[in-house]
Amino acid sequence: MTIIQSLNYPKFVVCYFIFMQHDFTNPNIIILLGYMGSGKSTIGAALSKRLNIPFEDLDDLISSSYSSSIPELFKKMGAKAFREIENEIVLKSLKNPTKRILSLGGGTPCYHDNMNFIKITTPYVFYLEGSPAFLAARLFPHRESRPLIAHTETESELKEFVAKHLFERQAYYRMANHRFAINNSSVQDVVDAIAPLC
Ligand code: S3P
Repeated sequence: MTIIQSLNYPKFVVCYFIFMQHDFTNPNIIILLGYMGSGKSTIGAALSKRLNIPFEDLDDLISSSYSSSIPELFKKMGAKAFREIENEIVLKSLKNPTKRILSLGGGTPCYHDNMNFIKITTPYVFYLEGSPAFLAARLFPHRESRPLIAHTETESELKEFVAKHLFERQAYYRMANHRFAINNSSVQDVVDAIAPLC
């Protein structure tokens, strides 16, 4: 006799109960994640228009909560304190029941227990995946406003940095429920792919 038979409830009731134990805590949230330069904010804004739901950017939430830009926060507090703040704000945001799209910072999934919390919050977790060469080419002209890559002097140095950094972060990013290659895709292509899944 199995445990389900011995419980004396119809099987579907027991299965439903077991399923509910693994329910997501806030499936109203759609999460976009990926390395810097992967287009999370641009795609988030376009997806927000398509689905007609609001869009929030975690870096913007952090900046407005602390009245400082991200580079200023890194400079004033250092990377470790920034990750504490990021953890505090992302956990708060994951609890907000408003239906919306939330784009994370490039490092958010890789610190504290953020990715595990994200995974139990919602099944709508999308990784925008770009190659190091593609990301470096996009980021190079804007690297000065990004604390982690501002030190790089040439595009090939940046590409080497991104390749190593991405390798370290990939395991967290790949915990997302869905992955989209962005190298040869327009914003519209990615939105077309994500929207029907939400
Ligand atoms: C970071 C990415 C940035 C920002 C901070 C750290 C990272 O966000 O949170 O500079 O660790 O990759 P974007 O990915 O939105 O640029």
